[in-house]
This record gives sequence, C-alpha cells and structure tokens, in this order.
Amino acid sequence: MADRLSGKIALVTGSANGIGKGCATMFAAQGATVIGIDLAQCDMTDEAAVGALMADIAVEHGRIDVLVNAAAFAIFKWIEELSYAEWRSTLTGELDIVFLATRAAWPLLKVSGAASIINFASANAYHALEGSPALAHCAGKGGVLAMTRQLAMEGAPHGIRANTISPGFIETAATTTHVNSDPGFKARVLAKNMVKRLGQPVDIAHCATWLASDESTYVTGADISVDGGATAW
Ligand SMILES: NC(=O)c1ccc[n+]([C@@H]2O[C@H](COP(=O)([O-])OP(=O)(O)OC[C@H]3O[C@@H](n4cnc5c(N)ncnc54)[C@H](O)[C@@H]3O)[C@@H](O)[C@H]2O)c1
Repeated sequence: MADRLSGKIALVTGSANGIGKGCATMFAAQGATVIGIDLAQCDMTDEAAVGALMADIAVEHGRIDVLVNAAAFAIFKWIEELSYAEWRSTLTGELDIVFLATRAAWPLLKVSGAASIINFASANAYHALEGSPALAHCAGKGGVLAMTRQLAMEGAPHGIRANTISPGFIETAATTTHVNSDPGFKARVLAKNMVKRLGQPVDIAHCATWLASDESTYVTGADISVDGGATAW
C-alpha cells in the first residue's frame, strides 16, 4: 500500500534529521503533502516565527491534517553540572517547542476536522537508563506525555486526535554522540532491550504513519512504546 496518507496535509517539524526525517520521507511515500520544517526554515521555539509559519500554511494549504512535533533539543548533564539556564533551555527545546507549534496550528487542525497530532515522549519518561545524564530530558518527556493526554481531551470535540510515541534508543544525529562518547552506552541500551538491536528512524516512522492515517481514528490520548521492549520489564 502506498496511499495510506493520500490527500493529507502533514506538517513535520525537525524534518532535516533523524525521526522527523524518517516520518517526512515515509509520509510522502504514502501520498501525503509534507511540509517539512527545520531550523533553516523556522526556529520552532520563536513564538512570532511559529505564528508566521502557520499563517503561511493557512494561505497555501488552508488546513493541517497531521502535525508531527519532532523538532527538539536537549542538554544531557548530571544534576550537579546542569545549570539552571541549561535546564530551562532543555525544557524550551522539548516542551515549549511542542506547545508553541500545537497552539499555533490548532485553528488549522480544527479546520481539518479529522486531524492527528503526533508528539514524542520517550522511554526516559518511564525509566532512568543507568549511565545516562538525562535529568532535564526526563522532565521534558514526562511533560510531553502528560500534555498530550490533555491535548487529546481538548481536541476530541474538534476532531483532533493527539498521541505520543515513546521511542527507546533510536540511532540519530542526536544520539550518536552518546554512543561515541561512552563506550559502554550501547551495551547498556541493549541490555535493557528485548530486541537486541538499536532502533532506527524507520521503526518510528511506521508507527507515526499509522497514527497519521485513518486506520487509527479510534486512538487518542495513547502512548505507544517503540523501544524494543526496553520499558516492558
Ligand atoms: N533518538 C532517540 O533515541 C529518541 C528517543 C526518545 C525520544 N526521542 C525524541 O524524538 C524526537 C526526534 O528526535 P531525533 O533523535 O530525531 O532528534 P534529532 O536531533 O536527530 O533531530 C531533531 C531535529 O530538530 C531540529 N530542531 C532542533 N531545534 C529546532 C528548532 N528550535 N526549530 C526547528 N527545528 C529544530 C534539529 O535541527 C534536527 O534536525 C525528539 O522529541 C526526541 O526527544 C528521540
């Protein structure tokens, strides 16, 4: 099947790399019109820029059927080394970035009447991975998980669904640095995984494609772990 998303207008943030790129590529292959946004087009933490982006999309497309909030950045440090500015920067890059895009897109999602928001929580919203200095990231992802349930409740009367995917360790630009800087990191990830390989963006894109499609219209307020079983035991 290559037309599961035909006719849909999909906005994918963070589309230049990793999971966002994987989703944008698969969505286009499934027939969606994909609006891919990354830092070169719009800083998704800039409220005014995000507003201007949505105004442009309103003129060109009139609605948004699928919003994938994959743009994110985080600072990984142990608590004693994490400055308050770095803590706040991570929450901006993981939480505010989702709020700003979703709020600005909301009127266009309402126009769709059958819209799907896909946010990214994380295995880190559920468990701490030994050796990973992920304090601010864990807080951000716990926030995304909770706020998405609220979005599902607020969106339901408008035909807007909202779900999270919680990836385990996925090999992307953001995570390769962890593997390269810590020789034991990959082994610790695999020790937690039931499926003994690292995840790839395409593993997440398959799940996102289903959540974006009309195959999942009874699914909202859900969190789907795509983590090789890491959080299941
Ligand atoms: N990779 C993993 O193992 C993993 C695990 C759990 C959750 N996640 C989550 O999945 C999502 C995607 O992660 P990824 O690994 O693909 O990240 P990534 O760093 O590979 O890609 C993120 C993209 O977002 C863009 N971006 C960052 N800040 C931006 C901004 N202000 N405005 C516009 N674009 C911006 C970056 O330029 C980059 O292209 C994130 O929310 C991440 O926390 C990833």
